[in-house]
Order: sequence, then structure tokens, then C-alpha cells
Amino acid sequence: MDTNESKIEVNKLAWGKLAEDHYKHYKALLSREDFKLNPIVEEEIGDVRGKRILHLQCNTGADSIHLARKGAIVTGVDLVPENIYYAKKLAEDFELSNLEFVESDVLKLMDVHQGEYDIVMTTDGVLGWLPDLNRWGKTVSYFLKKDGFFYLHDSHPFMMIFDEGQLPHGNLVPKYPYFNMTADLDTSIGGYASETKQAENYFWGHQLSTIINGLLYGGLYVTFFKEYDRCVPGMAGSAIDTNGFAYYPELEGKLPLVFSLMAQKKS
Ligand SMILES: C[S@@+](CC[C@H](N)C(=O)[O-])C[C@H]1O[C@@H](n2cnc3c(N)ncnc32)[C@H](O)[C@@H]1O
Repeated sequence: MDTNESKIEVNKLAWGKLAEDHYKHYKALLSREDFKLNPIVEEEIGDVRGKRILHLQCNTGADSIHLARKGAIVTGVDLVPENIYYAKKLAEDFELSNLEFVESDVLKLMDVHQGEYDIVMTTDGVLGWLPDLNRWGKTVSYFLKKDGFFYLHDSHPFMMIFDEGQLPHGNLVPKYPYFNMTADLDTSIGGYASETKQAENYFWGHQLSTIINGLLYGGLYVTFFKEYDRCVPGMAGSAIDTNGFAYYPELEGKLPLVFSLMAQKKS
């Protein structure tokens, strides 16, 4: 069977291989006084004290824990049982009680979880793991309060078409079709908070229009959109600027690497 569901199962196994390493990596980071969310995200979401947050694709919960430390009441969601196990362990390690974790495919969350949230958010390496952004838009809307907001910060779809091995040299070589409807198969995963591991995984490149249309389909409208030529460290071959962001010096000011978007429910 070669359906999207079976591909998501393959991805579940692949991400599971990284979970223990991520737990150790983020436990060490969270133990430091200066641990931060992505500074762009932190500034854009503003004060989260007292807010109920649904954090989609939370991995082993590092950002969920940071949000809880800032006074939010957080529900983290992830596909992978090992990630949820280690997210709960991290919350125990840091003695936090204002957060919970739910194991679920984002696209099935409406079937297994109920709740209303002031903020639904998802950041840094998320949309490419989801094959159906209409279902995703419906899911975001389902859990969002009428006066709440949705926040997304992720890789820019335009940047995702280029050969990643060529970007550090300043070369824009198209490798992945922008108008791609099928998943790309990779044979390794990780590397940003663990060693790279050998594991097949599927990734769906999305058009910007598919993302916005998914939210419209869910009854949301976009209230904020911003693009950046730098992002949090993790890209092979990138340089680090004085503020700690990763960028490609040859492509500074020329190529968007990430974008942020906020959306609200239509009244
Ligand atoms: C790059 S990580 C996101 C990390 C995130 N920035 C954080 O807060 O730590 C991508 C996450 O998406 C999860 N994931 C992949 N497919 C998913 C799905 N269909 N539903 C829910 N989570 C999924 C993976 O298990 C992984 O933890």
C-alpha cells in the first residue's frame, strides 16, 4: 500500500529514531538560563502568560516547555510515541505541570482530542510532513477560539525548490519542482539536534498558495505575513550572523529562507 497514510507511518518510524537524542540535546539546552524559543517566533507571538496554546508537531516538547515556563497552559501534539514519551519526561525533569502532550497525527487530531485554544501554533520544520493542508487548515480552525490567533513559522516554499548542497555556494539550482504534488523520498533524517540517522522518510513540498488556501478552507484569514533571509541555525553550510541567525552570505537579501504567518477565524 503506497498511500499518504502509509508514508506517514514510515515518517513515524524515522522520527522515532531521533527521539532519545533530541531529549538529551534539549534537556541540556533547557537547563541553561539563556535557552530561548526561536527569537523571531518569541517576538511575533508576544506575551503568552495565561494563554491556552495548542502546539502542533512539538517533537520532544522543548518549545512547549519553554512556552509553559513563560506562563502559558500548553498542549503539545506529535505523531511519534517516542517523542511524546520524552516530552513528558522533559516536563517531569523540569517539574512543570501546566502542560500536557497528546500523541496524534495532526491530520487526525480532531478525532482524538477536544479543546479550545487562544493560540494554535506550529514552527520550524513542520508543513512538509503533512500531505493534506486543507485538512490541516480545518484542524487549526477547529481548535482555535473565535478571538484567538494561529501562528506559523516555517521554511519558505520558494527556497525549498533549490539544491540544498548548492545554496552555501550561492548557487540557485532548481532541484525540486515547485508545483510538485507527490512526496519526495529521502533516506536520512535529523542532524539539527542529533546525528543524522539512516531512515526512509517522505516530505511534501507545498506551494505558498496551498498553505494559504488550506487556511482559507478552514475558515481562517491571514492577518500577518513576513519573510526572512535568515533563520535559526541548522542548515548545512550556513554562516552565523552576530544575532545568532543562520544565513548564506552569498544569498543575503536575495533569497527568503523562512516566513511567518498569522491567521484568525472569520467571524
Ligand atoms: C522538525 S520537527 C518540529 C520541531 C518543532 N520545531 C519543535 O517545536 O521542536 C517535526 C515534527 O513533526 C512531527 N510530525 C511529522 N509528521 C507529523 C504528523 N503527521 N502529525 C504530527 N506530527 C508530525 C515529527 O514527529 C517531528 O517531531
